[in-house]
Amino acid sequence: MKGIILAGGTATRLFPATQAISKQILPVYDKPMIYYPLSTLMLAGIREVLVISTPRDLPQFRELLGDGSALGMRFEYSVQDKPRGLADAFLVGEAFIAKDSVALVLGDNIFYGQGFSAMLERAASLVTGATIFGYPVKDARAYGVVEFDASGKVLSIEEKPANPKSNYAVPGLYFYDREVVEIARSVKPSARGEIEITSVNNEYLRRKALQVELFGRGFAWLDTGNPGDLLEAANFVETVQRRQGLYIACIEEIAFHKGWIDRARLLSTASTMKTEYGEYLSFIAENKGP
Ligand code: DAU
Repeated sequence: MKGIILAGGTATRLFPATQAISKQILPVYDKPMIYYPLSTLMLAGIREVLVISTPRDLPQFRELLGDGSALGMRFEYSVQDKPRGLADAFLVGEAFIAKDSVALVLGDNIFYGQGFSAMLERAASLVTGATIFGYPVKDARAYGVVEFDASGKVLSIEEKPANPKSNYAVPGLYFYDREVVEIARSVKPSARGEIEITSVNNEYLRRKALQVELFGRGFAWLDTGNPGDLLEAANFVETVQRRQGLYIACIEEIAFHKGWIDRARLLSTASTMKTEYGEYLSFIAENKGP
C-alpha cells in the first residue's frame, strides 16, 4: 500500500500565522505538523509516500523531508494548483498510486492512542474496498458524519450536516483499494465546488465495500483548525511527552523500530539536532534498539 499526505489549502482560519507559510509546516509543540500524519502512515507500515501541496509550499516540504532515505522511505512530491477537494488527491496522485491500494491522510490530522498501530495495520492490509473511521465528537457539524441504523449498520456518510444523525465524525484518514482513482474521477463537485471525500466513501458504501472502524474513548484525534485548537494540540503533545518521556510522532524512532534504518543512521540524525528531540533520538538508539 502507498500513502498520500494532502497538505495544501490556504488555512485562512490561522491568518496571519499562515499568510506566508503552510499550516502543515507550523510546529505542534516541538516538531512540524506534517510529522504527525506522516507517523500515522509509517505506523501503518507504509514506506512510499506522496506529499501534495500548493505550488508555493511544496518546496518547503521537500526541504524538510527530502527523498525519504533518512527514514528508509521513499517520498514523492506533487503540486495541487487549486484546492479542488480531498478526493482530488487521487487524481493528482494517479501516476504515483499506479496499481496499488492507497491510504490518504490529511496533513493537519493528529492521532494518538493505544492500539492505534494494530488498527492501522489491519486497515492497511485491505485488498478490496475501503476502510474509514468514526470518532465521537461533541459537535459533529463541521465534519463528515456517519449515520447508523439501530443495529449499528452504516447507512450513509453526510458532509457537514446541519443536523448530524450521530456524533461520529469521520477523521481525515482513509484506506482504499485501487478503484479509488476511477471513483474520484466520477465524483461530481459538491455545492461548495469540491470533489468530496464523502462522495467517494458513499460510493464504496453503495458497492457494499465500506468498512467503518470506530475509535473509543481514550483515543485522541486532535484539531488544528484555529489558534486555540493548535495550542491545545501542542499542550497535549507536551504533556504526554514530558510525563512519559516517550515521544509522539517521532518519525526517526518509528523508522528505527520498524527496521527501516539502522542505529548508525539514527545517531547521525541525532547528531544534527542540539535539542531535546535530538537527545531523544540518541536515547532511543542506545536504549531501545533491536
Ligand atoms: O478533518 C476531517 C474532515 O476533513 C472530514 O470529517 C470531512 O469529511 C472532510 O471533508 C474534511 O473536512 P474539511 O472541510 O474540514 O476539510 P478542509 O477543506 O479544511 O481540508 C482539510 C485539509 O486538507 C486542510 O488542511 C486543507 C487541505 N486541503 C483541502 C482541500 C479541499 C488540500 O490540501 N487540498 C484541497 O483541495
